Amino acid sequence: MNQKKFYITTPIYYPSDKLHIGHTYCTVATDAMARYKRLQGYNVKFLTGTDEHGQKIELKAKEAGVTPQQFVDNIVEGPKGVKDLWKLMNISYDRFIRTTDDYHVAAIQKIFKKMYEKGDIYKGKYVGKYCTPCESFWTESQLVNGCCPDCGRPVVDAEEEAYFFRLSKYADRVRDLLVNTDFLLPRSRVNEMVHNFIDPGLEDLCVSRTSFKWGIPVDFDPKHVVYVWIDALFNYTTALGFMNDKYPDSDYETFWPADVHFIGKEIVRFHSIIWPAMLMSMDMPLPKHVYGHGWLLLDGGKMSKSKGNVVDPYLLAERYSADALRYFLLRDFPFGSDGNFSNELLINRINMDLANDLGNLLSRTTAMADKYFGGNLPIEQDEGPEDAALLEKARGLRDRYEADMEAYAFQNALADVFEVIDNANKYIDATAPWVLAKSEDSKPRLARVLYNLAETLRICTVLLQPFMPTTCEKIFAQLNVEADGKTWDSATAFGTLPVNATLHKGENIFPRIDAAKELAELEALEAAQKAAAQAANAPAEEKEEKPAESGAASAELIGEHEEEITFDDFCKVELRVAEVRACERMKESKKLLHLTVFDGERERCILSGIAKWFAPEDLIGKKIGIVANLAPRPMMKGKYVSEGMIFAADTDVDGGCSIAFFPDNTPAGARIH
Ligand code: MSP
Repeated sequence: MNQKKFYITTPIYYPSDKLHIGHTYCTVATDAMARYKRLQGYNVKFLTGTDEHGQKIELKAKEAGVTPQQFVDNIVEGPKGVKDLWKLMNISYDRFIRTTDDYHVAAIQKIFKKMYEKGDIYKGKYVGKYCTPCESFWTESQLVNGCCPDCGRPVVDAEEEAYFFRLSKYADRVRDLLVNTDFLLPRSRVNEMVHNFIDPGLEDLCVSRTSFKWGIPVDFDPKHVVYVWIDALFNYTTALGFMNDKYPDSDYETFWPADVHFIGKEIVRFHSIIWPAMLMSMDMPLPKHVYGHGWLLLDGGKMSKSKGNVVDPYLLAERYSADALRYFLLRDFPFGSDGNFSNELLINRINMDLANDLGNLLSRTTAMADKYFGGNLPIEQDEGPEDAALLEKARGLRDRYEADMEAYAFQNALADVFEVIDNANKYIDATAPWVLAKSEDSKPRLARVLYNLAETLRICTVLLQPFMPTTCEKIFAQLNVEADGKTWDSATAFGTLPVNATLHKGENIFPRIDAAKELAELEALEAAQKAAAQAANAPAEEKEEKPAESGAASAELIGEHEEEITFDDFCKVELRVAEVRACERMKESKKLLHLTVFDGERERCILSGIAKWFAPEDLIGKKIGIVANLAPRPMMKGKYVSEGMIFAADTDVDGGCSIAFFPDNTPAGARIH
């Protein structure tokens, strides 16, 4: 039989520092997807790895007084390094690639040569800035106050010989791919790529460097090293044996093209423009999808090692378990959008969903089975009027879950499961087993109630396996579920457990956390980490990861300290048209209106201080402009979370206000430029 295959990848991470919660987020999502596909019976290949070349790593190694290879070896393989982190987080990758692996290096040299021989890579001149004392070549965007970012001295215009990739040749095909297919997801990312990068004109891409050594040499011209993004992007194929002998050719034949690359939003440009263009040049099939997920933010801003404001996944996973952290990351933050991380959210989520809802359901069910039947449910059981609704919900769960998983909407898939868990808890209240237990006559009904609870829980647990694999095994053990009750097929087969099931009362899977105490302890631990990071803080830290390749350069390469913002910075602000679906005055505040707006994808809440000038009826049904990617902001002591700002103008010195309305036929979600 021909087994269906599924190939999924994470980005390969820079081992320039220890990884943080943002990296963990992407890898956990990929792992959940890989496990879900395995559960469905796919032959899955899940690839992750590290992107180990480049100037930044060369510099960091120099600062540390070790060779670049020693430096990356330590971060990847060393204690609490990348591999240790993935082990702790229970990441089920099938393959781990390091771009310094010999087979990858040799394959990249062949790929580069092939594109050169085809004429898609040619030698040209790279115009930029040169620092004579440092003998370093810089791009405009790398300069600090117009001077060399290393020594601070003035730079001069200079030219450097370099190889270029004919990106421009593929502009039309790439545009077509983005606009007319579902290659790039979520769809909302397409406009940005097309309008900001393709339509203004794609320039050929500089794909070699001579300014540093820590890279893969161009074998036919060794003073050049291959541009890190060529080196990095082709990892997705070299790890399948493409152009090398490390893995059998059949892996490439079986698994390429990838089903999906999961990546963060700032590297969407590389994956949705440069990557397909290079594959087109190589006459290779294109990945089916690239999914650009959002960022986890801290206090509304980007996490940054040098400021010490990164969240340490080790600390949290060791304290609360990998499963709790995995669940939280995928339940709280819609995958395609940015989200604001906080310890409070994490602890609340663990307490609410895992301890109260799931943990309680399991302990109530097994404790009652133990108390009333010594753990063994009798065969004689009576159905009751409360059963049908619960059974229907549980039987239909897999389909709802599958639809969400296929759309990479992890948060919705988990919400579906927890809705059924909630139904089951309410079913306990409705059937009142403790009352049924009082009379021998109602024991058969009691047995049925407990059986239905165990089955509902089993079905939920089958579907939670991709998210919380360790916990699910513990639950299965308490419900005494055999292998046939853990499968995808069994998730629609209510009645898989034998009627006379034996349930074991076991450990409390998620003990409740004392939130106030934990938050104080975490705060103290994190403050200590922050102080240590700031003490070791090197100002050069915040500079870019890798040299920019051209003027229209990467949004992610811009420093955080500039007063002015560049065009690319501006492009990061997502301005969209939204439809006001509801608007209310708030009893908690005279100044604020509570708006529910539809942004083209979902409804969101925005609290806006315009109540003095506008009544709800002035706004309902109108199309307004919003800043759509502003970090959500808790307001009214956390009772509300405002998810955006609306376009409003001050109209006079006394603080009058007007709002920009778009014509009614403007679609909600339209990007404003
Ligand atoms: N090496 C490149 C990727 C090459 S893939 C062919 C790179 N590495 S990275 O280490 O800087 O980032 C790896 C991934 O981590 C990116 O997808 C990035 O978006 C993600 N994250 C880093 N910080 C993040 C958050 N705070 N939140 C979510 N993901 C973020 O880019």
